[in-house]
Amino acid sequence: MAENTAAHDLEVELGRLLDQERFPPPEAFAAAARVSGSELHDAPGEDVPAWWLAQSKEILDWAKEPTRAVDESSKPFYQWFADGELNVSHNCLDRHVIAGNGERVAFHWRGEEGEERDVTYAELLADTQRMANALKARGITAGDVVGIFLPMIPEAVVAMLACARIGAPHNVVFGGFSPASVRERMEFSDAKALITVDGARRKGKTAPIKQALDAALDAEPLPALGTILVVRHTGDEAPMREGRDLWADEAMAAAGAECPAEPLPAEQPLFILYSSGSTAKPKGILHTSAGYLTQVAWTFREVFDLEVESDVYFCTADIGWVTGHSYMVYGPLANGATSVMYEGAPDYPHKGIWWELCERYGVTLFYTAPTAIRACMKWGPEHPRSFDLSRLRLLGTVGEPINPKAWLWYHKVIGGERCPIVDTWWQTETGAIMVTTLPGAQDAKPGAAGTPLPGIAVAVVDQEGEACAAGTQGLLAITQPWPSMLRNLYRDPDRYEQTYWSKFGPDAYFVGDAAREDEEGYFSVVGRVDDVINVSGHRLSTAEVESAIVSHPKVAEAAVIGQADEDTGQAIAAFVTLEGDMDGTDELIAELREHVAQHIGKLARPKRIIWSDDLPKTRSGKIMRRLLRDVAEGRALGDVTTLRDPEVMARLEAQIKSGAVPAED
Ligand code: PRX
Repeated sequence: MAENTAAHDLEVELGRLLDQERFPPPEAFAAAARVSGSELHDAPGEDVPAWWLAQSKEILDWAKEPTRAVDESSKPFYQWFADGELNVSHNCLDRHVIAGNGERVAFHWRGEEGEERDVTYAELLADTQRMANALKARGITAGDVVGIFLPMIPEAVVAMLACARIGAPHNVVFGGFSPASVRERMEFSDAKALITVDGARRKGKTAPIKQALDAALDAEPLPALGTILVVRHTGDEAPMREGRDLWADEAMAAAGAECPAEPLPAEQPLFILYSSGSTAKPKGILHTSAGYLTQVAWTFREVFDLEVESDVYFCTADIGWVTGHSYMVYGPLANGATSVMYEGAPDYPHKGIWWELCERYGVTLFYTAPTAIRACMKWGPEHPRSFDLSRLRLLGTVGEPINPKAWLWYHKVIGGERCPIVDTWWQTETGAIMVTTLPGAQDAKPGAAGTPLPGIAVAVVDQEGEACAAGTQGLLAITQPWPSMLRNLYRDPDRYEQTYWSKFGPDAYFVGDAAREDEEGYFSVVGRVDDVINVSGHRLSTAEVESAIVSHPKVAEAAVIGQADEDTGQAIAAFVTLEGDMDGTDELIAELREHVAQHIGKLARPKRIIWSDDLPKTRSGKIMRRLLRDVAEGRALGDVTTLRDPEVMARLEAQIKSGAVPAED
C-alpha cells in the first residue's frame, strides 16, 4: 500500500515537472564550475584548428609535438596533428604511473557473481606490456589488425591498450554478436590475431565462446588469422588448436615484462569498429590516434566535469560499442580517472545492481542510455531507493533521443534533483561527444541534447544543404572538421566518400540524423533518416537483418523496419513473404528469430514478424518502407497510387487489424 502511494506521488510529481522546459545547473554545481560556459564556448575564437592544437598539446603527452592542426589538402580524407608523434597507451597508462599515480585504481571491476577486483594503473600497465609482447611474439606488428571478442573483464581493456601500444589497430566485436558475425568481421578486416575467452557469463549461466567461434571458423576458415589468444575466465571447455591458439595467461607469462611505448605517428590507425550502414555489409569505421585521443580526453574532462582525485565514474556501456571505447577506456584512462566496470546484465543478480555498485564504490559520475533508464522506470523506483546514491553529482545519457518523462525520472529518482544531466549527442563516426550542455554552465532542456561543444560546428540544413530556420526539422550536418572524426571506412574509401561526403560535398559531413535547432541554438536530434534502426541504442541496418531473414530456405522475400517501441526506442518488425503457398506459423516465427540470432546475434531478432503475401513496391521494384512503418504503427496510409499493386497495402492493413499478426514475445 505504502509503495503504491509512493509510486502515485512520484507520478504526480513527474507530471508536474513535465511542463518545466529548462533546468538550470544546480547552484552548488555552478559555483564550482572550472570556467563559465561562455568562456569555454568563446575560447576557440576565430582559429578553431589552432585552438584544438593547443588543447591537444595541453591534454596529451607527445613524443614529438605537432606543428599543424588539420590538413585539408586531401579532403574529405582529413588528417589531424599529422607531423606529431605519440603513443596512445603511454598516454593512458605510463604517464600516470610516472607521475606517481600507479597505485590509483583504474577500474573497480565487479564480476557477475559478486567477485571484486581493483585494477590499478600500475597493474594495467604491467599486464598491457606483457600482452603487447605476447602479440609481438606472434609476429603482430604496427598496422596488423587484431580482433577482440571479450566480455566486460579487465583483460578487454588490456587487450585494447596492448594493441594501441604496438600500433596494431583493434577491431572489437560486441559480445552479443554471433560467432558468424565475428568471423565475418575478422574476414573484412583481414585480422591477423583474435583475443577471446573460454566462455562468457550471462545471468548465472555460461556459454562456451571459444568452442562456438571454432565452429564458425572451421566452417569457413580464415587463413590470415594466425593467432588466437584465449583468456581464461569461466573454465568452459576450450579446444586449443596447435600452432594457432594460446592461453593468454601462459603467453603473457612467457613474454617479457617490458614493452616500451614507442612513439607512433599521430595518424596511426587506432581501431576499426564495424557499424551498421544502409547496406547488408557493415562499415568498418576507422579511427586514428592523436586526434581521437585529444577530443575524447577533452570531452571526458569537460563534459563530465572531472575532478580526477575525487570522482568515481561508472559507464554502463559495453566495450563492444563506441561508447565503451571512448568513455569507458580511452577518455577516462587518458585523464587518469577511476571507473567502475561491471561484467553483468543490469538486472542480474538483481534489478538494483547498478545502484548497489554506485553505493559500494561511491560513484559520482554516471553515464547510461535512455533505454536503460526506461527499463529502470519500469522496474520501479524502489530499486534505486534501497541504495545510497548521495555521492552521485552528474548524470549522462547517450545513444538515442531521451523522452522528457524518462529525463525527469532520471533527474528525480537517480539524481535526487541535485545532479545536472548531460544528454550527449555523437556517433561511432564522430568518435567523441559533439553536442551537449556543459554542466554547471548551461541550462538543460529535456528532449534537446544541447549546443555544439567548443570547437565543433553543427547545422540543421535542408536537402540542398541550405540552413533551416530555427524550429524547422532538417538534416544534421557537421560543417567543420573535428579531431576525432572518422578517417575512412576500412579498405572502402569510395563508400566513405559516398556515405558521408557526397550529399553536401567534402566540407560538410552528412550525419544521417534528422534534427531541429531552437532559437537559443539547442539541437534536438529526432532520429535516423537512413535505413538504420536504433534498438536500445544499438545500431542495426534493415538490409543486414533482411539479408539474414532471406537466407532462410522458406523465405522468399522480407522487408524490415524500425517500429516505435516504448521500451527499446525502436523495435525490429519484419514483413515476410514465404516461398510457394507456405503458411506462416508460430513455430516458423521462432525458427526465423533463431536464424537471425545465428547470423547476426540475438540483438537483431525481430520483435514482430508479419506474414505478407506481397510487399508494397514502386513500379521500379523499390520497397516503400515508409508505408510499412505507417501500417505497423497503425497510422493512416498516405498516397499508395505509386505502388505497382496498390491493393497490397489494403490487404496488409486488414491482416494487421484482424489480429492475424503473430504475437510478440
Ligand atoms: O541517431 C543518433 C543516435 O545514435 C546514432 C549513433 O549511433 P552509434 O554510432 O551506435 O553511437 C551511439 C553512441 C554514441 C546517432 O546518429 N544518438 C546518439 N546519441 C544521441 C542520439 N540521438 C539523440 N540524442 C542523443 N544524445
